[in-house]
Amino acid sequence: MTPNLVLAGFMGTGKSTVGQLAADRLEMAFLDTDQLIEALTGRTIPELFAQSEAIFRKYESIVCLQSSLLDGAVISVGGGALINEKARTALEASGLVICLTATLDTVMQRVGGSRSRPLIGTREEVGALLEARTPHYESFRYRVATDGRTPYQVLDEVMELWQYVS
Ligand code: S3P
Repeated sequence: MTPNLVLAGFMGTGKSTVGQLAADRLEMAFLDTDQLIEALTGRTIPELFAQSEAIFRKYESIVCLQSSLLDGAVISVGGGALINEKARTALEASGLVICLTATLDTVMQRVGGSRSRPLIGTREEVGALLEARTPHYESFRYRVATDGRTPYQVLDEVMELWQYVS
């Protein structure tokens, strides 16, 4: 059995970009939980949030639990997905979880104008959310800082961890 490679972290840390690159490099399947939720529900993330964030979170935990049953996949999860303890435990048991990190400046530069992310608002709002979640992101054993680095530079560090741990 091949472990999964799971990329977690706040919005704008490059999980999906680096996840796709990692999957190409490792010749593994790539899944993104937000894309899976949109495919499953036929709704966009903003539409789901407009209906109810709680329902979105339920879909998110279902998709994480389902994804944890795979092996040998690269899975990028939404920024809030692993706050759910069951989802986190299941994905951690399925392979290597790496949390990508970025400062508020980097996050705002990368996704500050994003319309597809309902939790991206003013700099103050995003800063408050990032600060509130920082203990969560810091609780991951493996973390890779992405500030000032290209996706390929981040990929190299992710690959080093993958080779070391898997
Ligand atoms: C969220 C992050 C988003 C998406 C949703 C909520 C969050 O995913 O799941 O908008 O709670 O941090 P990305 O981290 O891929 O942008």
